[in-house]
Amino acid sequence: MSGSSNYVLGHSDAEIERLQLQAKVLEGPTRRLIHECGIRPGMRVLDIGCGAGDVSMLLADVVGMNGTVVAVDRERHAIDVARSRADQAEYSQIEFDVANDESFERYAPFDAAIGRYVLVHQRDPAQMVRRTAAAVKTGGIVAFLEGAFQSNGDVRPPNELYRMIGDSIVSACRVVLPAHDVTGRIIATFEEAGLPNAQVIWESIVAGADSFLPRYVVTSYRVFLPIIQQLGLDHSEIGDPATLYERLLATAAASRAQFVSLPQVGAWAVRP
Ligand SMILES: C[S@@+](CC[C@H](N)C(=O)[O-])C[C@H]1O[C@@H](n2cnc3c(N)ncnc32)[C@H](O)[C@@H]1O
Repeated sequence: MSGSSNYVLGHSDAEIERLQLQAKVLEGPTRRLIHECGIRPGMRVLDIGCGAGDVSMLLADVVGMNGTVVAVDRERHAIDVARSRADQAEYSQIEFDVANDESFERYAPFDAAIGRYVLVHQRDPAQMVRRTAAAVKTGGIVAFLEGAFQSNGDVRPPNELYRMIGDSIVSACRVVLPAHDVTGRIIATFEEAGLPNAQVIWESIVAGADSFLPRYVVTSYRVFLPIIQQLGLDHSEIGDPATLYERLLATAAASRAQFVSLPQVGAWAVRP
């Protein structure tokens, strides 16, 4: 599947697992963005690039049984996984479809549209924001949550193994994600798309050694490793990926380490 995928990491089972771990790490910032941007019960909401469907299910909880979530992704495998997870969790108000940003308007009009970790994958993020805005009503909401890959994560006290893992991943992201730094110009990107006055939340997740955060980072490292090696960005001192999490946890737990994620940036605006 990944061989034919446009999405840089493909949709292997390992990547779907990584997206689900990522969803746990990002749940707080996503809930805060959904609340702050004004998504409410009864709304019809578009989830752009839904991946494994985690944002779609958070949205379904908010819009309730009188609302609708339309979840689209350009990759069929992602839609199949998302649909089966939503069926299992008994969400009946989510409609899934294979679609890219050229066809969002097919499902319009929406009260709101939201995408998580999709703008960083676009060659022209303003174009995606513009196409999203075209699918929402006047007065409707356009929102995105993206990682700030121009920054680095952190850990205190410093941990050399974690620094090398983080450095390999973020350096690879800066090469392969066409808009890895879109959060640094998110207000201008919204403006270019005809959405003035974007509001922005810029936050990091902070968590202890035995938490989703280091587990997510190590899983990301394993998924990214072929790309990291291909780009010559690997640190041989990192050692065997199979034992990496246990080794990191041992040193981090001994120093009672505190991990700080990359900034997670939620931006939203109302369509004038
Ligand atoms: C990093 S994943 C994020 C998945 C999900 N939003 C989440 O946060 O769990 C990015 C997803 O966006 C999809 N995607 C990227 N560009 C797209 C586009 N132009 N139209 C539709 N889907 C797109 C990819 O196929 C992939 O599933």
